[in-house]
Amino acid sequence: MNTAIGVTGLRKKFGDHVVLDGVDLHVPAGTIFSLLGPNGAGKTTAVQILSTLITADSGQVTVAGHDVAADPDGVRAAIGVTGQFSAVDKLLTGEENLRLMGELYRLPKQEITRRASTLLERFDLVAAGGKLASTYSGGMLRRLDLAMTLVGEPRVIFLDEPTTGLDPRSRRGMWEVIKDLVAGGVTVFLTTQYLEEADQLADRIAVLDHGRIVAEGTAAELKRRIPGGHVRLRFTNVRELDTAARILANATADQDSLTLTVPGDGSRRALKDLLDRLDDAAIEVDALTVHTPDLDDVFFALTGHTTIDQEATLS
Ligand SMILES: Nc1ncnc2c1ncn2[C@@H]1O[C@H](COP(=O)(O)OP(=O)(O)OP(=O)(O)O)[C@@H](O)[C@H]1O
Ligand SMILES: [Mg+2]
Repeated sequence: MNTAIGVTGLRKKFGDHVVLDGVDLHVPAGTIFSLLGPNGAGKTTAVQILSTLITADSGQVTVAGHDVAADPDGVRAAIGVTGQFSAVDKLLTGEENLRLMGELYRLPKQEITRRASTLLERFDLVAAGGKLASTYSGGMLRRLDLAMTLVGEPRVIFLDEPTTGLDPRSRRGMWEVIKDLVAGGVTVFLTTQYLEEADQLADRIAVLDHGRIVAEGTAAELKRRIPGGHVRLRFTNVRELDTAARILANATADQDSLTLTVPGDGSRRALKDLLDRLDDAAIEVDALTVHTPDLDDVFFALTGHTTIDQEATLS
């Protein structure tokens, strides 16, 4: 698979404050990659470097096949960035904002009209397109902001906390839009503080903590890496429950619900092993559920602290 974003040994400090302390990332083309981290972890700094807005102190970064240091223009031509803070001009209408982007890309007038109307439609902004952006809701502004990023038809898109401050419904709407983008072949580099968002959207997740990647993998891989997962087995009668509890020494039985809780990562091998042992003893399992910890648990297990503001601990 082609590499859309490759980062090796990325370092950045502001004064003597080390913000990125040797970051390595690899994002295959056509996938969603999520950089997950609390306030002040260095997410925006990473996005700014990857999108050529600021330069790194050291390390190698390639985006869409171009080196950010040697060929920033090549990178810029291939990417779109939706920043943490909106680029929408509120004194213009939605449509005017989109047209302005088209002019910045020096697109022919007809093409600008075509792209603007396609995007207004796609982002459910047709009715609002002629109204001043100052009258838009937070969710509409986010959608317009992302639509503006797409005017240049970028192959790699950076979304810095695209749903922060949105209500659950608008957030879900944004997730659908992001999924559609990737289905259309673009690569998305997404930063978020929302564990559920990374879980929902990302093919791979990297957890950034104090300037270092402390874990990387799929949501399922990250969840498996930490203790706290368990398998719950339900039986049809107490006799079977008791027999199973004797066989599985580390399990906890609950007589009332006829369930047995077995610590484990829920991996295929562990499940097979568990069921084989019960099968050998001719015990029938009525129901089986696997409980994996959520990403909040993962963050705590990986870093020893919760996802609250890092700024206090950094400075
Ligand atoms: N231009 C700058 N000059 C000095 N310090 C900076 C600068 N930009 C960022 N920092 C500091 O670097 C650290 C990381 O900031 P960054 O904005 O990358 O974090 P973040 O992960 O995006 O946080 P948030 O979730 O709040 O957006 C913070 O402590 C911030 O104060
Ligand atoms: Mg940020």
